[in-house]
Amino acid sequence: MANQMPKYDRTSELKAFDETKAGVKGLVDAGIKQVPRIFHHPQDEMQKNSSVSDDGIPVSIPVIDLKNLKEDPGTRRKIVDKVRSASESWGFFQVVNHGIPVSVLEEMKDGVLRFFEQDLEAKKKFFTRDYSTKSVVYNSNFDLYSSPAANWRDTLFSFMAPSPPMPEELPEVSRYLIIYVTSLVELMNLVATVSELLKESNDLNTDHLIDMDCAKGLAMLSHYYPACPQPELTLGITKHSDNDFLTVLLQDHIGGLQVLHQNQWVDVPPTPSALVINIGDYLQLISNDTFKSVEHRVVANSIGPRVSVACLFSTVLLPDLRTYGHIKELLSEEYPPKYREIAISEYVEYYLAKGLDGTSALLHFKL
Ligand code: OGA
Ligand code: NI
Repeated sequence: MANQMPKYDRTSELKAFDETKAGVKGLVDAGIKQVPRIFHHPQDEMQKNSSVSDDGIPVSIPVIDLKNLKEDPGTRRKIVDKVRSASESWGFFQVVNHGIPVSVLEEMKDGVLRFFEQDLEAKKKFFTRDYSTKSVVYNSNFDLYSSPAANWRDTLFSFMAPSPPMPEELPEVSRYLIIYVTSLVELMNLVATVSELLKESNDLNTDHLIDMDCAKGLAMLSHYYPACPQPELTLGITKHSDNDFLTVLLQDHIGGLQVLHQNQWVDVPPTPSALVINIGDYLQLISNDTFKSVEHRVVANSIGPRVSVACLFSTVLLPDLRTYGHIKELLSEEYPPKYREIAISEYVEYYLAKGLDGTSALLHFKL
């Protein structure tokens, strides 16, 4: 019963955890067998996954093969249809034959492991919560002090475009960020391609997405999810939708990412050499809900560590004061605008202050 629980001062426990600068990995390294209370999530949030539909057929997010996208118009038409239907119904899909070499993907995952598993003193040099003056930020839970429950995850954050960090600002142990920069061009092309496919799929005449420079700003989040002694009590990432136009995610072989689809949690199975793409909040807003920024989460796991690299395409760092509103061609009497115009900076400020609490920041901008 609640009144028999030992006294619990959440703020000082959060502070004590934060001050170790060792993240969740530090707790696991210290040999804890029980998940501290700051990480406990309400049990009703922990609803189990189900990848089986009502008629017993397993459901999964679409895997789209981009082979011959450029070479063959017939293939392109089919890919456009698949991207449209995935973006409207799932908000998520995986792509294979995307042009980024498997060796680069492998090196990125290894690099994430190397960063988080290096000597703590070296890692601590990157520990900060100051995103405005530091270009490379390591911490655990960006929203540690604002969210109702902390996540079983540590993260290395960096803005990579329009201005990547100087080489001397990067962690010595991890060349993966530099390798990543070299494949940035391919990744940008991939995002430009997806934007084009979305445009074609709606017969839009304007290059609205490209004009908005939505592929020009990139924040990269390298996540490290340590093995968890009591995975049923906590989450790797709370249910959320992404604060960007589009996300390209690389995950390893462990699994745990789930997408909320028709009110059920559906696993995104690790698929070798695939990248996961999902629609973010700004695309849902400007498309007036045509494309869905779908909620997703990562469950905690007794095996690990799991690593992932999320590339968030957003223009928050571009020297650009434009506001973003609906694509006019998608509006009609039948489909009046649902959101007010936003400045990305305003959206980001609201999203960060709110923290991950299981609700979508988009609701705040509804008309
Ligand atoms: C995110 C995210 C999922 C993952 O960074 O927004 O949802 O698998 N990551 O790490
Ligand atoms: Ni996400």
